[in-house]
Parts: sequence; C-alpha cells; structure tokens
Amino acid sequence: NESSRSCPFLSGAHSTASAGTSNRDWWPNALNLHILRQHSELADPMDPDFDYAEAFQQLDLEAVKQDLRDLMTDSQDWWPADFGHYGPFFIRMAWHSAGTYRIADGRGGASSGSQRFAPLNSWPDNANLDKARLLLWPIKKKYGKKISWADLMVLTGNIALETMGVEPFGFAGGREDVWEPESDIYWGKESEWLGDERYTGNRQLESPLAAVQMGLIYVNPEGPNSEPDPLKSAHDIRETFGRMAMNDEETVALIAGGHTFGKTHGAADPEKYVAAEPAGAPIEAMGTGWHNSYESGHGPHTITSGLEVTWTRTPTQWSNDYFEFLFKFDWELHKSPAGAWQWRPKNGEGDDLVPDAHIPGKKHHPSMLTSDIALKVDPKYREISERFRNDNEAFKDAFSRAWYKLTHRDMGPLSRYLGPDVPGEELLWQDPLPERDYDLIDDNDVATLKGKIADTGLSVQELAYTAWSSAATFRGSDKRGGANGARIRFAPQRNWEVNKPSQLRKVLSALEGVQKDFNDGQSGNKQVSLADLIVLGGNVAIEKAAKAAGKDITVPFTPGRVDALEEQTDVESFEALEPYADGFRNYINRTNPINATGEELLVDRAQLLTLTAPEMTVLLGGMRAIGLNYDDSKHGVFTDNPGALTQDFFNNVLDLSTKWAATDNEETLFEGKDRRTGETRFTGTRADLIFGSNSELRALAEVYAADDATDKFVNDFVKAWTKVMDADRFDVK
Ligand code: HEM
Repeated sequence: NESSRSCPFLSGAHSTASAGTSNRDWWPNALNLHILRQHSELADPMDPDFDYAEAFQQLDLEAVKQDLRDLMTDSQDWWPADFGHYGPFFIRMAWHSAGTYRIADGRGGASSGSQRFAPLNSWPDNANLDKARLLLWPIKKKYGKKISWADLMVLTGNIALETMGVEPFGFAGGREDVWEPESDIYWGKESEWLGDERYTGNRQLESPLAAVQMGLIYVNPEGPNSEPDPLKSAHDIRETFGRMAMNDEETVALIAGGHTFGKTHGAADPEKYVAAEPAGAPIEAMGTGWHNSYESGHGPHTITSGLEVTWTRTPTQWSNDYFEFLFKFDWELHKSPAGAWQWRPKNGEGDDLVPDAHIPGKKHHPSMLTSDIALKVDPKYREISERFRNDNEAFKDAFSRAWYKLTHRDMGPLSRYLGPDVPGEELLWQDPLPERDYDLIDDNDVATLKGKIADTGLSVQELAYTAWSSAATFRGSDKRGGANGARIRFAPQRNWEVNKPSQLRKVLSALEGVQKDFNDGQSGNKQVSLADLIVLGGNVAIEKAAKAAGKDITVPFTPGRVDALEEQTDVESFEALEPYADGFRNYINRTNPINATGEELLVDRAQLLTLTAPEMTVLLGGMRAIGLNYDDSKHGVFTDNPGALTQDFFNNVLDLSTKWAATDNEETLFEGKDRRTGETRFTGTRADLIFGSNSELRALAEVYAADDATDKFVNDFVKAWTKVMDADRFDVK
C-alpha cells in the first residue's frame, strides 16, 4: 500500500500556511460550523452569473447521447472494455453515484457529482471507477459547462442501459456539481476501511447510515462481514435498500437488473498486487488509483472487488438469464482467484454457459454473489424473483422504474427536472403537487387576509410556530419537504410531536376558515391556498412580534404555494422527514436519537435548511425571544417580555453575571443563577448555551447583541425567516 509506505516528510508535515496542528486536532469534540459554509463562491470557478439550469437548456442533449452510444464500444487500450462494451462498467459508476443516498437525512446521492472527490473517489467499493470517469472525460470536455459531471454520470448509465436493450424510463438534467467534497455527510466513525463499528445489539445499524461497512455503498457482496450466509445477507440488503427508500420489489429488480449485465473482477489477490486508492496514491499517478501490478493490470487481469463472477450468457444485452440461472441451478460456495467467497452451480453444471470477457469462444460457468443468492433464499425476495423469472416484461418495467427512482430520488420537485427526456408520468416518490388552476392573490388580498388572520385571535406563538413547522421540514439535501403543498395537514406530519398536534389542529382549522371565507367570496377565478395562508400567518406573527419590540416592519411574502392532495402524499416516505431534532424549537426526538449533542443536532438541522451560521444565530435568538419552544418550556427564553422580537436572547446569553450549571448528569439542561443573589434567572439547553460557549457563535451573538444592531437584528431575522419559508419555492427561483 503506497500511502502507508510513503515517507512522513513527504506526507504532509510541512510548515506551510495550511499545515500544523489544527483546532480539530486539539479539540476534536468542538462544534464544527464548517458545514454551514461549504461550497462558497470562493471555491466555484464559474462566473458569478452562471446559471447551470440555463446552460443545460443550451445543451444539444441528442448529440451527447450519440457520443455516449459511440463510446460504449470504443474500447481503449489503457482500459479495455469487457465483452467489447463499457455499458456494465458505466452502470456500476452511475449506480454507485446514486447509491450513497439515504432517506433519513436525504444526504448522499447522485445530485452533486461528489464521486469525483475523496472520500467517495477512494472508497473500496468505488475501485476503478476513476477509469470510468476518465473514459468519459473527452465527452465532458467537449460539452464543458453545459453538462455537469453529476448529470453526465447518470445520463451515461441511462445510455448504457439503452444500448443493452433497456429503454430508460426517463432522464432529467439539473444536478449542479460541487467543487469540494461535501463535509456534512456522516459516513460513519470507523477509522479503517470496511470497519463496521456502526452496529449495536442485534445488528442494529446506526442511523442515518445506509451501508454495512465503511467504504461500501450498501452491503458486503460476500455476505455480512464476508460470512457467506445468503439469509443474513438478505437481512442486510433489506435494511440498506430500505434506508434508500426502496421496497422489496424495487430492491430485487435493481439487483437482478444490474447483475444481468457485466462481470466482477478478481483476477488475483488484491493484497499482493493492488496499490493505493486515488487519494492515497503518489503524485505521478495523476489522480488515478488502485494501480494493479498483476500482468497487464487491466482487461483479463483486472482486480476490483476480488470477486470473479459473470452472471449471464449475454452480459451486454438484457435477458432473463439472471433469474433463470438463479432457479435452475443449485449453488455451492467456492473461492474466487483472489480468495473471496462466491457461488457456482453444483456438480460442475453450466460449464459452457457464459462467455469470457476477452477471449472469443472461451466459456465459463455462471456465478453468483452471496447477495444474489439472497434473492432466492429469502422467502419474500424469492416470491418476487419467481414472479420476475416468469414475466420478463414485468421485471424490465420494474427495473427501469426503480432505476429512474434511484438516479432521480434526490432532485426534489418536478420543477427542478430539466430537458426533453423528463417523462410525463408523475410518481408518488416525487411528492407531486397539483398545477395551480386559479388566479393568484394580489397585494390588496394579502393585506385583507392578514387582517382576517389577525382577527382569528390566534396568538403570535401559535401562528409563527405553525408556519415554522410547515416550512422547516425542508432539506436542501434531497430538496424534499417545505411549506408548499400544506402537507402539514396530513398524516404523518399532523401527528408529529414536534408539530404540537393539538395546537396545530386549532391553527389549521382557524386558517381553513379564513381560506373558505375568502375563496367563497370571490366572483372571479381567484383563490388562496392553505399553504400560502400558513406562511402568511407566520408573517402576521413576526410583524406583531417586531411591533411589540417597537419596530414597524413588513415581512416579504411570495404567494403561489398550492395545496397537495392526500393521495399525492406517500405517508411512509414522509415519515423520514420527521425532524430527529430541531434546535430552533428546542426539540430533540428521544425515541430516534442520532448519536449527537444538542448543539450538533442544531447545526445539522440548520445545514439541512441551507442556513449559514449567522442566519442560524439570528433565527434562533429571535425565535427564543418570541417563545417558540415545542414544549412551551422557558429554556432559552432569556427575556421578561416573550413574544417581542428583541435582542434579549443575545444580551443574556453573553451576560457573565449569570452563572450556569448543568441540572442533569447528561449535561443536556442547565440552570442560570444570578451570580450575586444566587437566584435562578433562566434555564437553557445545549442549543441555547452554545451561543455563549462556542467562540465562533459567541462572536456572532455579539453582533446581534450590540447596541447598534437593533435594526440589523430585526432585518436579518426577517431575511432568514423568509429564506426558510421560501426554501422549497423552486417554482419561483
Ligand atoms: C458489479 C456488488 C447491486 C450493477 C458488481 C461487483 C460487485 C457488486 C462486488 C463487482 C465489481 C467489480 O469487481 O468490478 C453488488 C451488491 C449489490 C449490488 C453487493 C447489492 C446487494 C447492484 C445494483 C446495480 C448493480 C443495484 C444496478 C442497478 C452492477 C453492474 C456490475 C456490478 C452493472 C458490473 C460492472 C462491470 O461489468 O464492470 N456489483 N451490486 N449492482 N454491479 Fe453490483
């Protein structure tokens, strides 16, 4: 392994600007705010006015597709195509680009082109995919900024399928590349590749992870921890694919459909012949990794997974062989040339069935991975597999639909889908919204409606809390959630503890009254949606809270949200949007704990809401002053005048005349006493005290506590509030 062999002097111990012992080395537990300032314009080489969506619309998509078709069979000497066709290799690239997605936090996935960067470009499971991207480079170069790597990788997978006999269900562009690795994605805490410290108890996988070992996309192909037990493998497959929002049928279709193509690569022992991954390779490797010193190092000598399997008779053409062989043969274990567990037909059957990837006329027996045999031995998977074996068209349709979902799952609402190949059919996992078929309210209507909302007698807290609850499900990671659709009135959201179900019912019923009166009173085609009214109610509340602090303001409002129908709402997939914590409402869900402190969970939520550290700070301080805790507690409500949009939170969190001490052993709750009198002044959580404790957040709190910041505080609060309310308005961005 070249990375561990390299001389320590050459491996980074320099006295340059970025070297030296860092804060993270000294204080590994300190709060990491970097995730709130990723992808700055300073990292982005594009012009400030560059708009990827616009650039993509200029792309000659047909020309790119033709170039990709030509590339499929244009075998290069430096990385010869198996069976003369790169299709299977490219499918694996696209699948691994999308397959990092997990529904629990919406992070990972194909949407940012992050396979180009470490750690993903160097994950053991992504071995040799550097070559797949290198094969694509001439096409990327030709079309430049009009197609991102993220889009190109998915499109290439689609064209691979098309050239091998599967008409793709569709393709949407619109994935914008990042220019640095994403640092907000928790991939696990192991410090060794393929470590699995992520399990507790009876194989409970740590949330939000969706892979069984560090550096894998999903499961170990040999079986759990390389134990070739297909039933145990089925358990892991169901768990990991489920975390990517795939049900049993989609899971079987994807695995079997994918492994209808191509082969695995294990010509010899990787330990002996394969050098470091790209991020650990020497400079002269020029960004490539896994240098293979076995014979030619490529073609028939390729070592990737260490498994040596070909599943079907026509590895570059769609067929029914995968299921036919799975059921036709009894399978027995054997070892690949690289020493990994895999399966072959018993009694030497099937010897002449599958082709060699490089020697014409040479034949082998088909083989399977432990994770393939799982589709036969698990009773539920078996039922589906048998159905697909008997109905190849159903299998093909299920596969191409599941592939479309796999590769588009994290793109958000349909308004973000670009290009001529977007299918007309809407799918439930896209969280569809109805088209607005009525006229929008205008400024006068907004003023009238605000008056009506005020007349309901709902309190500032009730209105603001409900608006926040509606909007704050948004996650920038997969662009799901948000206020549009007013799905807060449906299960599961209306029952979430964090949404205060009984208060929510009261507020919704009052707002529905306002909506009905307004809509019934129209002579023309004008209507207001409940989704708009919920947000407008928040505005009424914020304006009132500002007034109570002596500020006359108007909170900006952009109408146009629509109300989704209940049948457009997939309850199960919305369950994943339930916040495991929302520090803005001082909430932590104790039944589904992510293993993190209150302040880490606050930053995590802020990142999902796409907030910066200053935005998080001003929002939290303002929301505490208004009094928006989910349990009506006084934690962090550092003011004598709750309900007014004052700077009090900041003043008091910075005030050293209060002495703080924990009131529980886990240090989650604190009491602040007057240092002189010993009298209790305030209580707070970690999400409150962190603004006094962390030096960077303290610096931001100082800005908003300052005497000259009364206007700035209110203005910045309103801006950040509006940003959250509008976070999902891709229809107007
Ligand atoms: C190849 C494992 C699911 C498509 C491979 C390889 C392994 C593997 C170990 C060999 C890599 C190499 O040595 O070159 C798994 C496991 C899965 C899974 C454990 C889940 C249980 C999928 C899915 C797809 C897919 C969902 C696509 C829909 C492919 C293709 C290849 C491949 C096309 C052949 C690549 C080539 O010919 O170069 N898979 N896979 N796999 N996989 Fe999967």
